[in-house]
Parts: sequence; structure tokens; C-alpha cells
Amino acid sequence: KRPVGAPDKSLAKKVAKVGIIGAGLMASQFALLFVRKLQVPVLITDLDQARVDKGLAYIRDEIGKLEAKGRLDGDSANRLRALVHGTTDKTEFADCDFVIEAVFEEVGVKQQVFAEIEPLIADDAILATNTSSLSVEEIGAKLAHPERLVGFHFFNPVAVMPLIEVVKTPTVTDAALSTAFVVAKNLGKNAILTADAPGFVVNRLLAKVMGEAARAVYEGTPLLTVEKAFAPLGLPMTPFQLIDLVGWKVAAHVQDTMAGAFPDRFFASENFHRLAELPEVVEKDKNGKVTGWSKSAQKVLETGSAP
Ligand code: 3HC
Repeated sequence: KRPVGAPDKSLAKKVAKVGIIGAGLMASQFALLFVRKLQVPVLITDLDQARVDKGLAYIRDEIGKLEAKGRLDGDSANRLRALVHGTTDKTEFADCDFVIEAVFEEVGVKQQVFAEIEPLIADDAILATNTSSLSVEEIGAKLAHPERLVGFHFFNPVAVMPLIEVVKTPTVTDAALSTAFVVAKNLGKNAILTADAPGFVVNRLLAKVMGEAARAVYEGTPLLTVEKAFAPLGLPMTPFQLIDLVGWKVAAHVQDTMAGAFPDRFFASENFHRLAELPEVVEKDKNGKVTGWSKSAQKVLETGSAP
């Protein structure tokens, strides 16, 4: 059955090589999924060779773990390793049919990486952005062919979460949308079509949950009480576990995007930052950044101390 709003799959372009802009954790998780499920060459790139090498090391390591668990035999593992390449030379993207970016969540940065790639690829190659809440139309505003850009939003952990939001801009072609749906299906994911609205669908909901949880704590309810209140809903993670999972910076960014778009409906991430000032509920990493909310919650439970 065709997903609601998806164009006919006969319009989809064949994807014989995938390009991934970025070699960070998210990009490397994409590379692993693409190579496992599509079994086509996958190319990753980043600002410098050290970043590319780190991404490649992660992917090879993960393939090794799958092999050790018996999920891949030796030949298949070697075949996958041989299909993944890393480069800082963007001209190697020339024959990619599907190029997805997973770089820093800033419109200007995303516009710039696409501006570099677009002149190098075929006119009918599809571009995709994994933005979690920015406007896909704005990201594509400087492209020569914005109609080839589609939003393709994954969820953490990429290997496990079954959903992809395919985001429809006003100009996107049916071929680009159709390709996105077919790629999602071949990745083993369920795709839904969403409007190009801030936060699409999922992050609208999650920003409410995370924002209200942070505000409740800021207003005086102990963090653990908030977590306890949520747990009986039967969802796999509580609000602060989710913040841990997606990462403090990403969660705050989603929050600020939503508050920027709908100031009367969403709180900015300043409540997160205020919580960060409460030493009894947060842990900090060696750079002083907040980390481990759920571990902190556990500590509050054990010590009985709460804000
Ligand atoms: N990478 C790869 N695989 C992972 C993984 C990871 N980081 N974490 C867990 N898994 C796999 C495990 O290997 C296991 O696979 P198996 O059954 O084949 O052995 C399976 O997932 C279940 O893992 P566990 O039994 O260890 O753990 P749980 O049952 O507790 O499930 C979870 C872990 C799947 C992460 C579950 O807690 C969950 O679904 N949490 C909700 C996650 C969520 O809501 N994500 C969306 C975040 S929002 C987002 O990403 C959008 C962004 O724009 C902000």
C-alpha cells in the first residue's frame, strides 16, 4: 500500500551510489545503514581527513561488532567494508544519485555544503537533508535546482528507530519524493510525508515534552518526580532520557527552533540552561558541557537529594 501522499514509486530514481556529507556520529550511522540495506557504494566526506577517518573507523568497528555477534558472515562484512569510502575530495561525489547531508544544524552551513556539491553531481541526482527542524525550503533556497531537495529526517538510534519523515517543500518534484520513499522502504523504515513546517511532526511533539519537563523542574518539581510521572505512560524513554539520547545540544536546538517559530506555544531552551546551573542534578563532561541527565536523575534517587 502506498503511504499517504507518496507519489507513484515508478517515478523513483534508481540509487546506485549514495553520498553522505558529514562523517560525524549521525552521518556514520547513516553510512552503515545505507551500505547494509542498499548494498551499494557509500561515500562519506567532511572538512578534513581526520574527521573522515574517524567516521570510517566507526563504521568499520560497527561492521566488526555485527560480525562478532554473528549477524554478518565474514564475506558479507568484508563486502560492506569494501563498499564504504571516505574522501575530502568532493569531486568523487560526481556519480552519486542520492546525496544526504548530516552536518551542523544551521541553515547557512547546510546551504554551503549543498552549494559545493550541486555543481559536481548529475542534474537529476536527488539531494536530501536530515535537518531535524529547520525549513527545508530555506536550506534549498540557494540551489540551482531546489526542486530536487527533499527532507529525510531520521531518528536516534538510526539503526533501530523505524520512522523517517519525508518532508515536502512547495517545489519538490514527484521524482525526488518518490525516490525518498523507495529509499526509506529499502532501508527498512516506515516513511511518512510531512509538511515543511518547523519541527515537522515528531519534533513538534518531542519539543513539547522536553520543554515542559525542563520547565516543570525549573519551577520546582524534582527532576526525578517528572521522570516518575512520565514512566507509567509506557513509552520507551522518559523526557530526560530522551534529552540524553538525542544530545543536549540537538535537543536545545530543536527547542529554540520551535520557540522561534511559535513563541506563544513553545519555551526556548533557556530552561534547559537554567537547569544546567543546578549542580545537584547534572553531570558535566571535561569541557563543562551538561551530560547524563538520566544518570543524574538516578543519582538523585540514590542520594535522596533533589533541587
Ligand atoms: N545503535 C544501534 N542499535 C541499538 C542502539 C544504538 N545506539 N541502542 C539500542 N540498539 C539496539 C540493540 O542492539 C537491540 O537490538 P537487538 O534487539 O537486535 O539486539 C535493540 O536496539 C533494543 O535495545 P536494548 O534491548 O538494549 O534496549 P531497549 O529495549 O531499552 O531499547 C531503544 C533501546 C531502542 C533506544 C528504546 O529505548 C527506544 O526506542 N527509545 C526511544 C528512542 C526515541 O524516541 N528516539 C527518537 C529521538 S528524537 C530524534 O532522534 C529526532 C532528532 O531530530 C532530535
